[in-house]
Amino acid sequence: MTYLRNAWYAAAWSEEIGREPLAKTFLDEPVVLYRDTNGDSIALSDRCPHRFAPLSKGTLVGDAIQCPYHGLRFGTDGSCIYNYHGPVPKAASVARYPLMERYGLTWIWMGDPEQADEAKLPDFGPRLTGDDFTAAKGSLMVHANYQLVVDNLLDLTHGEFLHPAFGSPESTKFETRLEGATVYANYRFDDEPVSPAVQPFWTSSSERCDRWANMRWEAPSNLYLEVIVKESGAPVDDDAIIFPASHFLTPETKDSTHYFWTNGRNRLIDDEEMTKLVWQITDNAFRNEDEPMIGLVRDRMAGREFEDLNPIFLTTDRAAGRARQILKKMIESEQSANAAEPNAKSKKSLEGADS
Ligand code: FES
Ligand SMILES: [Fe+2]
Repeated sequence: MTYLRNAWYAAAWSEEIGREPLAKTFLDEPVVLYRDTNGDSIALSDRCPHRFAPLSKGTLVGDAIQCPYHGLRFGTDGSCIYNYHGPVPKAASVARYPLMERYGLTWIWMGDPEQADEAKLPDFGPRLTGDDFTAAKGSLMVHANYQLVVDNLLDLTHGEFLHPAFGSPESTKFETRLEGATVYANYRFDDEPVSPAVQPFWTSSSERCDRWANMRWEAPSNLYLEVIVKESGAPVDDDAIIFPASHFLTPETKDSTHYFWTNGRNRLIDDEEMTKLVWQITDNAFRNEDEPMIGLVRDRMAGREFEDLNPIFLTTDRAAGRARQILKKMIESEQSANAAEPNAKSKKSLEGADS
């Protein structure tokens, strides 16, 4: 499968990475994550260049990681620094992947390290981490291609069928907007009964509300959702309930996706029991409602490509369709740039092959 490589992908919650090697796969490549003795996070290819053992099954020796098979040790830059049995082979090194921290997550750059620039991760706005907000956070694996998960998130009309607890809209208005390479899918549900998911935060005596759900997609697969709920007909002001949420998706393989989410709110922000309840409701929806459905879709596709199955295009698919087009173009242009200028890394490994 061809992925966009020059991009930041959510790799792990920052606290997942410690002094025990952590094995994960991103974009079909095995990666080992750990922290060095300074506490900085390190990501290396998880395949020893000798006989291809997983370094993640080895041990940390100071800042280095020691292969569990014949004991070669690799430093934080990926180069072999120690061979118990003889000289250090010059060509022995593993790829090191750039990392950065943001939104409580460690992000990985699987492409050309020279192009890794922190500014290339889009800003998802102040509400994800703002002082007036708190959030439940979680993660799960989706056993399907990441683009099917993006489709799911950009088409929230699945909500009333798959997630009845999130609302039963009596009318849905939606618009798709494009700003550069950013896709917005904005939904508006006017004058609906206050749903069970909103009820704990609802302080008005009115039993009906307007709900807006504004989803924003950034390539390759990072989404921000802001849900705003207010009394029917009232303006959006300080009384509005705001639920900012992130959905960061990272392909593990063609048919599996790491899903990192946060679900925030501007109400009852010091109430930890409420945060646990929000976690349960959200985890249940994603794990027991979205994930199985997307998995069934994958099964029905039976390994065939999305376009080859001629999917019916509904007006509500505009945003997902746009996102697929934009990502496809970005991948194609990255591929043609790579073909025009074979990267320095492959040149270096050819030179190293003689040593
Ligand atoms: S496989 Fe790693 S040292 Fe042999
Ligand atoms: Fe859903």
